Order: sequence, then C-alpha cells, then structure tokens
Amino acid sequence: MGTNYQFETKAIHAGAAPDPITGSRQTPIHLTTSYQFKSSEHAANLFALKEFGYIYSRLHNPTVAVLEQRLASLEGGVFAVATNSGHAAQLIALFNLLESGDEFVAAKKLYGGSINQFSKSFKQFGWNVKFFDESNPESLNSLITDKTKAVFIESVTNPEGNLVDIEAIANIAHKHNIPLLVDNTVATPYLINPIQFGADIVIHSTTKFLSGQGTVLGGIIIDSGKFPFEKFGNKFPLLNNPDSSYNQLVFTKAFGNLGFSVRAIAVGLRDLGCQQSAFDAFITLNGIETLSLRIQQHAKNAAFVAQWLSKHPKISWVSHPSTKPETDLHKKYGQKGFSSVFTFKLKNGTLEQGVKFVESLKLFSHLANIGDTRSLVIHPASTTHSQLSEENKILAGAGPELIRLSIGIENQIDLIQDLEQALEKV
Ligand SMILES: Cc1ncc(COP(=O)(O)O)c(C=O)c1O
Repeated sequence: MGTNYQFETKAIHAGAAPDPITGSRQTPIHLTTSYQFKSSEHAANLFALKEFGYIYSRLHNPTVAVLEQRLASLEGGVFAVATNSGHAAQLIALFNLLESGDEFVAAKKLYGGSINQFSKSFKQFGWNVKFFDESNPESLNSLITDKTKAVFIESVTNPEGNLVDIEAIANIAHKHNIPLLVDNTVATPYLINPIQFGADIVIHSTTKFLSGQGTVLGGIIIDSGKFPFEKFGNKFPLLNNPDSSYNQLVFTKAFGNLGFSVRAIAVGLRDLGCQQSAFDAFITLNGIETLSLRIQQHAKNAAFVAQWLSKHPKISWVSHPSTKPETDLHKKYGQKGFSSVFTFKLKNGTLEQGVKFVESLKLFSHLANIGDTRSLVIHPASTTHSQLSEENKILAGAGPELIRLSIGIENQIDLIQDLEQALEKV
C-alpha cells in the first residue's frame, strides 16, 4: 500500500489485500506447514535464496507475512520478522550480531525477564551483557569495547513507564559504530516510533498491546534498514562473511539493507525454530486494527488514574510521567500521550500491605501481563522481577514496596472506585 497513509489507516490495511482466489477480505489463516513447489528448479532456487517464496512455515508463512508487513509499515522499517514471543525476538535479533565471547550493553531498567535472559541464559552462548544507566546516556561510552556488538534499551520501561532518550543513546551507539536495538513493547508504535529517533532495530512483544486482549504470545523484529553493517565487515562477520550453509552467500552483499532480516529468517528461524503460528498472527493482526483507538483510551485512563493516585493520602509516589513536571523527554516522546503501564508506592507500605491491596481489588486482575483491555495489577518484586537480586530489583525499578498497574480501557470511574475500596482496606 502507499506510504502516505496515516497510522490509523495503515493499522488496518498495511500488508493485507483481498485474497486473489476467493476474494476473502479478512486475511486468511494459512494453517499449513509447507508449500508445493512449481518445479525442481523452483525448489532449488528457494533453498539457495536465489528466489523469495514460501518453503516451510518454520521460515515463513503468508498470514505471518501480513503481520510482518503491517508492523514494518507502522514502525517505518524496511522489513520485519515475526517470532513466537518477545523473548524469541530478542534472541533472534542478537543471534545475527553476537558470537561466543562478544558483548552487548543493555539498559538497567528493563522487564525482569529480559534482564534474566540477557545475564543468565545468554551467558550460556558466551554472550556477555553489561548494564548502563539509560537515564544517563553518556555512561554508555565507558562500557563499549571492541567486542560490543549491540546496545539494547526499552523506549518506555517496564514496570515504571519511564521515558528513555532514544535519540541521545542512538547517537552514542552510532559514534561507536554499533546498532541500537529498542524494545518498543510498552510504548507501541502508536505512541513512539523509535526509528524516527535513530533506532536501528525495533523489537516488540506482540503479546501485549499489539494483540491487545491477553490472548496470544508473539514477537517481532523490525529492521530500519539504515544501519550500515556492510561498512564494518570485521565487527559483524555473521552478516558480512560467506555463509557455508548457503553456498558462501554474504547476506549484506546479496540482500543489501534487507541482509539483517533475511539472515534472521534463513539462519535464525531455520535453526532456532522460534516461528510464529499463522493463527496467532491472525489474532494479532485483528488486535492491531484497533490499536490507535485502544491506546488513546489506555493513555487517557492511565493519566486519570495516575493523577488520582498521586493525590491520594495513602500513596507516596507514582511513576507515571503525567504526575511529574514536564521535561524535554515528555515533549519529545509524549506527543500522543503516555503508556498505561506504571508503578506506585503505598505510604509507609510494607510487603503485607501491598499483598492486602492487590488481593482486595475486584475489577483489576492480578496476573503477569501488561497491555490487555482489562486493567491488571501485580507486585513485580515477588513475581515478574523475582529472579533478580534485591539490588537489581531496585535498579530495574521494581523495589519491594512497588505495585505495577497496566490500566485497561474500562470506564475510569469504575477503576477509581475499585482502587478506592482496596486502599480503604490497607
Ligand atoms: C517490555 C517487555 N519486553 C519483552 C517481554 C517478553 O515478551 P514475551 O512474554 O512475549 O516473551 C515482555 C514480557 O512481559 C515485556 O514486558
């Protein structure tokens, strides 16, 4: 579709067209493992990457391809690769860049599962992570070495909902010839497009706001196509050296600025097997059609609830940006509002009081997810961030006294009444 359409239009149409055979207007769910070749030559060309086409759904699938094109369009990227979870997207993206012994630098404030994945499981591959204070972009400089292959941040942090200066961090990463990978899950492309601020690769857990109703897991990697991997041959050998499994093909030479994405499919999905199912892609596509309407309501409700909480006598602190004095970050990254994921502290709150509060809520669901139409609540220190050390919990913005909310799209008055009756019990 044309690139001049606005966000709301692209959210419904990008990547999709009526089915040429049946006329089916909704994207069909192509539940098939494999695709019949036209001839032996066709099969050989597909396997040698001489021709693009469908071979086997571990690599590619027509329903999933619509999701990929839609999110590439919404984020302003050249190509996207879907995976079966947000964590798989992080794995496949870094699998293009890091070999054993390599390093990457990640923000301190990240979803607890990402901190674990990076510092524990990725260590088994010999990938070493260092953490930097994303609120002080300059602190990145001293952590970069010859072995650093990527910088990773969240555009808006989970659980606190803090804004991060993507542009300042991108400039520093680029000064060192390193790509910036941005997890845009909490913001969604409706609120922030990291590529506009210099991000090279954007990652989402589509499990959250994009599918939007707490139904299916998924992830996506969107390539801006702007990072000149081919210029730094020795730094990125996986993209710039001949690949023996594809007859010595060099991804950046053969596919130009699509090289990163083609390798993510042809090697990453082929060998790590984290493909997204057609059914899950279909559900997420339907979620994305209403993304702009939902996020407007999420953002409106969250600002209302956060401001109400910030004035409540039993609350000492709320992290939501709307409760803080306006900064340059608000102006730069908050033009369309702020995310509905944030934390707050009960005044002199103990762990027991936090538990009592969470258990007293009736409308809010107590569960481990964000970005659902339903309002959600959790105590991160004992759940999503529980595998971190006490010190790392505080660094990640998940101290013991904090409660995380993900505000849904219900009526604001009902949400406030539920919070009020639960606070009365504390
Ligand atoms: C910000 C963020 N990134 C990544 C993930 C991982 O996504 P998934 O659960 O789809 O693997 C999560 C999950 O909560 C998240 O909140």
